[in-house]
Amino acid sequence: MARSRILVVDDERMIRWSIQQALSRDGHSVSTVETGEEALAQATDEMPDLVFLDITLPGIDGIEVLRRLKALDPSSTVVMVTATDDLKTAVEAMRIGAYDYVSKPFDLDRLRVIAQNALDRHELRQEVEFHRKESVKRYGFHRIIGPSGKLKEVVEIARKVARSEAATVMLQGESGTGKDLIAQAIHYESARATRPFIPINCTALPEELLESELMGHEKGAFTDAKTAKKGLFEVADGGTVFLDEIGDMKPGLQAKLLRFIENKTFRRVGGHRDIQVDVRIIAATNKNLEDLVKSGAFREDLYFRLNVIPIRIPPLRERPEDILPLMDHFLSEFSREFKRPVFELDPEARSGMAAYSWPGNVRELKNLIERTLILGMEGSFASLGPSGTNLSDHSKEITPGEKEHRTNHLAGSGERDPVAGLSAGGFSGAGPAFQLPASGVILEKVEEDFIRQALEATQGNQTRAAEKLGLTRDALRYRMKKFGMI
Ligand SMILES: Nc1ncnc2c1ncn2[C@@H]1O[C@H](COP(=O)(O)OP(=O)(O)OP(=O)(O)O)[C@@H](O)[C@H]1O
Ligand SMILES: [Mg+2]
Repeated sequence: MARSRILVVDDERMIRWSIQQALSRDGHSVSTVETGEEALAQATDEMPDLVFLDITLPGIDGIEVLRRLKALDPSSTVVMVTATDDLKTAVEAMRIGAYDYVSKPFDLDRLRVIAQNALDRHELRQEVEFHRKESVKRYGFHRIIGPSGKLKEVVEIARKVARSEAATVMLQGESGTGKDLIAQAIHYESARATRPFIPINCTALPEELLESELMGHEKGAFTDAKTAKKGLFEVADGGTVFLDEIGDMKPGLQAKLLRFIENKTFRRVGGHRDIQVDVRIIAATNKNLEDLVKSGAFREDLYFRLNVIPIRIPPLRERPEDILPLMDHFLSEFSREFKRPVFELDPEARSGMAAYSWPGNVRELKNLIERTLILGMEGSFASLGPSGTNLSDHSKEITPGEKEHRTNHLAGSGERDPVAGLSAGGFSGAGPAFQLPASGVILEKVEEDFIRQALEATQGNQTRAAEKLGLTRDALRYRMKKFGMI
């Protein structure tokens, strides 16, 4: 381990000397100064790992020095050195953020233990801070792309929520609009960031399982409960629980969630004692909760409790200014990931993208770009070529499935296929993969039929079915939802 840097600030020469001797022997690098002014000058150059700070100093006193050190770096670690009769000041110092204090005359062995504990904690804090910064890089608000006023407004509210103590947040928006993204950003840019972020999908589990998942259970609560188990609310204490698809939560559990939000307490399944935790709940839904309240499927009181800070994320078609910036963002992101040169799209392709309605929202746009780059990379799909590139060479390699998929992409919308714009005429020369019957077809039906067939052929394996259809699993699930299959 690197030697820790310790600074001793005391006007008494003997004290400086004895601390320096004791801690140097433990392998630390110890420097000493006589005044607060000198200490601050040193700390401004580089903050030591640990400061021993005398309270009574000739110039600015120890308490003021402590304040300024904390202002320089809130994570600085300071141990106060006090006269025995100065306990009140020592307590005040702790309140300001000192780690501990030692009273004069002190036992050097005790001082060494205090120093080691302080350094251990300092190191731990540095690590936590490092991870926090990494999480912000990975999950922070900067990931949310979109110059439109509507999205900016959403992000602004979400940022305020992140900074606030607000306990509940409600995200409403169609599938693929970025609810997960915003929930993560709120958590990782909040004071809760070093505690867990726990997403749970309320649709995925039957009611009883979801309850025991969230609230835990006591030993013997049900047949399989061989030992007691903490629920996610307990695990997430101090952090955030993200309740996705809240509209699917069953009434029995809704009542328990309401009680939890109102009292911050809950009981494990089979338990009799109230457990208190501090978690922020971010609920999300792509359904219209007001409608569910009207139809009686969702408790009105819970709705009001959750809806204290509602954030509605508009679908992409309501903020078309975001389409091209998002597209450029994903193009460069995936190009980097797949180690390909970044492509420029020709103006015609761009206007096709901008005019499309994106029923699957940002997810659909992202998947389209990813798919196009992947398939283009394999040479089996007209790639997102730089404008003017002749891509028709690839067209003969296109399989009927891909062609069908491309047709299907348009099915629901009746609009111009943005993929056709992307591929810049890549199909010219290839004959029709499927012959349109003279009587015509209902494209939606064709799409639905193919999805059913792909699922049958793969025994319901969505990943493999998606592969068969040239879709990502998300894109398949989106379509399955659209056709009411899930
Ligand atoms: N504004 C945005 N900027 C960058 N990426 C975005 C944006 N909005 C969404 N995405 C990306 O689109 C995809 C879908 O977003 P996300 O999973 O957050 O949607 P969702 O609203 O939770 O959808 P669902 O209701 O289906 O769960 C993700 O990969 C996400 O990173
Ligand atoms: Mg989601």
